Amino acid sequence: MIQEIKEIKDADTLVIGVSMYNFGIPASLKGLVDLVCRAGHTFQYTEKGPVGLMEGKRAIVVIASGGVPLGSPMDHASTYMTTMLGFIGITDVTFVAAQGTAGDLDVALKGAQTQIDAIAA
Ligand SMILES: Cc1cc2nc3c(=O)[nH]c(=O)nc-3n(C[C@H](O)[C@H](O)[C@H](O)COP(=O)(O)O)c2cc1C
Repeated sequence: MIQEIKEIKDADTLVIGVSMYNFGIPASLKGLVDLVCRAGHTFQYTEKGPVGLMEGKRAIVVIASGGVPLGSPMDHASTYMTTMLGFIGITDVTFVAAQGTAGDLDVALKGAQTQIDAIAA
């Protein structure tokens, strides 16, 4: 079995760091997605369409962006991550936004820390 799939199968919670590159995810992370989204391993085709096999897990996705706010029309990173994780059965997804890193980095990091504290509370 692909090691990355085994690691996801063994995990209860996935913490995924994403740099927003050109409104989406970096090519390196896309490479990992292409390894992990495999029919018969993380999803399967059924008569009712594809069904994810990674149910019961939680994902925390931390997205750093220079200027594009998460949830804005130019943000294709969070929508892609939601779609991709849902496809393999992970629908409990929490986003942390470290946004505006091209501006005041301290403000961006403090904003992200506040969101992380809320998750941990
Ligand atoms: C190739 C490249 C593309 C980027 N594209 C975007 C973008 O579309 N929107 C945005 O808000 N920030 C963009 N950024 C800025 C990063 O999202 C930002 O620096 C963030 O903190 C993560 O970058 P890092 O992986 O260099 O730490 C880009 C940075 C690079 C290097």
